[in-house]
Amino acid sequence: MSVAKPLPHDSARQHVTGAARYIDDMPTPANCLHLAFGLSDTAHGEITAMDLDAVRAAPGVVAVLTAADLPFANDVAPAAHDEPLLADGTVHYVGQPIFAVAATSHLAARKAARLGRVEIAARPALLSVEDALAADSRFEDGPRIYAKGDSGAALSRAAHRLTGRIEMGGQEHFYLEGQAALAIPGEGGDMVVQSSSQHPTEIQHKVAEALGLPMAAVRCEVRRMGGGFGGKESQGNALAVAAAVVAAVTGRPCKMRYDRDDDMIITGKRHDFRIDYDVGFDDDGAIDGLDFTQYARCGWAQDLSLPVADRAMLHADNAYHLRDVTITSHRLKTNTQSATAFRGFGGPQGMLGIERVMDHIAHHLGIDALRVRRANYYADVPVEGAGPGGQPPGPPGGISGKMKPGDSALAGEMPIRGDGDAASRGADVEMTAPVAGRAAPGDQTTPYHMPVTDFILGRMTERLVDEADYHARRAAVAEWNAANDVRKKGIAFTPVKFGISFTLTHLNQAGALVHVYQDGSVHLNHGGTEMGQGLYQKVAQVAADRFGIALYQVKITATDTGKVPNTSATAASSGADLNGMAVKVACDTIRDRIAGFLAELHQCSAASVVFEDGFVQVGAERLPFAKAVQLAYQGRVSLSATGFYKTPDIEWDRIRGRGRPFYYFAHGAAVAEVVIDTRTGENRILRVDILHDAGRSLNPAIDLGQIEGGFVQGAGWLTTEELVWDDHGRLRTHAPATYKIPAASDRPEIFNVALWDGANAAPTIYRSKAVGEPPFMLGIAPFLALSDAVAACGPHYPALDAPATAERVLAAVRRARG
Ligand code: MTE
Ligand code: MOS
Repeated sequence: MSVAKPLPHDSARQHVTGAARYIDDMPTPANCLHLAFGLSDTAHGEITAMDLDAVRAAPGVVAVLTAADLPFANDVAPAAHDEPLLADGTVHYVGQPIFAVAATSHLAARKAARLGRVEIAARPALLSVEDALAADSRFEDGPRIYAKGDSGAALSRAAHRLTGRIEMGGQEHFYLEGQAALAIPGEGGDMVVQSSSQHPTEIQHKVAEALGLPMAAVRCEVRRMGGGFGGKESQGNALAVAAAVVAAVTGRPCKMRYDRDDDMIITGKRHDFRIDYDVGFDDDGAIDGLDFTQYARCGWAQDLSLPVADRAMLHADNAYHLRDVTITSHRLKTNTQSATAFRGFGGPQGMLGIERVMDHIAHHLGIDALRVRRANYYADVPVEGAGPGGQPPGPPGGISGKMKPGDSALAGEMPIRGDGDAASRGADVEMTAPVAGRAAPGDQTTPYHMPVTDFILGRMTERLVDEADYHARRAAVAEWNAANDVRKKGIAFTPVKFGISFTLTHLNQAGALVHVYQDGSVHLNHGGTEMGQGLYQKVAQVAADRFGIALYQVKITATDTGKVPNTSATAASSGADLNGMAVKVACDTIRDRIAGFLAELHQCSAASVVFEDGFVQVGAERLPFAKAVQLAYQGRVSLSATGFYKTPDIEWDRIRGRGRPFYYFAHGAAVAEVVIDTRTGENRILRVDILHDAGRSLNPAIDLGQIEGGFVQGAGWLTTEELVWDDHGRLRTHAPATYKIPAASDRPEIFNVALWDGANAAPTIYRSKAVGEPPFMLGIAPFLALSDAVAACGPHYPALDAPATAERVLAAVRRARG
């Protein structure tokens, strides 16, 4: 059994020895040209003159291209056809490519690109959310609104009401390998592109379009990326298309890679958001009505902004059952880089909105934020086999959260309320109640009207709060803060509930191609790409398991549009869910053929043939796998198969905000403790405890790595990683000297990460759950712990914005003091 084993990443050794090949490590083909872009230095304006003579005359330069020189489509947009490869007269942001230089070396191309003289008649630039709102500059005609119930009425009758605002910055992907592509022209105009891309089919598609070729004449191959994090879903198109166009025009291979500063200046980042909220709640902090207004700064082109902003709306509830809620989303068009996919895809921004609301409510009522969170949780799905008490409590509309016999093992110490009825304010409010939310699993729906039937955060919270010793440590933090004026500590618990599936339903499909050779070795291919997340390894474990062979007998091969066509981006955390299933189907097809053949030979039933431990058991005979394969080959059995999978049971209307966009939810929770220096705003994460739900993990070692990495990246987003644009729209933080990603030394001193071991309720591959993005949002815990530490400085709510740099922490300390 290969599945569920904590095996190392298949390339771990190559990663650490430097033997793993990325685009720039591939042997450069003879005659290869190198590309660089000349960039706009103006945020918005019209190109009035271009003098590129000095560029053409520079040493090593072979060709210089402008928009006018492009043979076919000048468009690298993933969806909206609004993204010219080279500016077509108007420039939309500082860093937009205007011309491309092909030269005999990378350095020669970069140096020559600096010599271009482009005159631009500047027009007013929209840089901020406020600028865009004032100009009504947006994608889509107006704001998108999803609603359930009547938030206006609920707000006006609530016992308490708060309004507030949180601003959160964007985030640079900072993949270690920058964007890169290599185009190699073939016979008759065919093109092969090696690309550092999460979306090989998109590269194939855009290159074909730019060259006027059918997709069948273009092949894209991706062995691995040195990190993608969403930044290589669409942002690699420009390099691949530019390299392919130059390769087609010159007949020479052509490579392009962005230097780090160019990468940061040219490519899109996480969307920064402003979220305004208006919330009504009762004395226990249970929410009655809630209005969110989300403002996403999308940059100059649409890219993936609509689905990103949709996902932010779809995570505005996070783990909380909201009855009367309205979410309004503005997708604002600005003269900045085109914001794009980034781990969580808008989910983190939406989730931070409601986690801020929980924190604000708790501060207002003077109660522990954990209590407020649990008072608003969705109800857990009943424990399997828990008897009558484990059934969904009561009919819809009944009092929820009441103690039920089967739940007693899960009892917490929190007081819990009913649903706004008088009884809930009576004596039983203070009784020890089960960890449950505000509704029966049967009658609880998200703000987009999807029933929540697989919620387990009640139980997970119970375990984490216990293992992290939350209550004792909260008391210790309070004690510390009472005794210390200069350094203040804070602690926070935050949950994650993340929806799994692409919200564009048709993307939830995958294909695989499996060959078994006559020596018993297996060639594995599927549509998913490897970016460090361990997808290839997990899927290879599935293949090995289906054939009952050792992992070394499975050859992992590069993703290739010529082997598996029409692939979706490896994104939305669904790589293993989709490709694992497709590979299982392909392997089982071959296995069943071999079994059928051998069964006939041995006069037994095909179902009785067992593939295990490198052997095939047929009747009384135990054949080595290779021997069985050889017999099947000689018996003229096809040993090659494709596999296909599509996620069942999902449908989504993104305009109306109704449906079942997600196949299931993945969960997680974190407790973080921090300390701040109230004189300087400096801060540290002291301890983090995480409990994360990866279902029945396909590989616990890889999943733990995803959880640790995701958490650290999320914490970086909300603490040290700050993007700064100046008044001219120039990004001033375009290198690690000014943009601070977490370093090894920023790791929490105590960092406990555990997997919640439970099968996915949905029949996914081996009942595992997607794990790529959800842990990112565990990084909200240290941010709210910082808010908690600041709140210890004075009576006022700190209203901390993100990222919580030392400067912002210091300003918040002043606000708290008043
Ligand atoms: N982990 C590593 N090491 N590198 C990455 O680029 N990308 C993340 C996540 N984990 C990423 C990563 C993102 S944004 C996604 S959507 C998923 O991995 C994609 O892979 P999966 O679907 O196989 O989980
Ligand atoms: Mo991940 S943002 O879905 O590539």
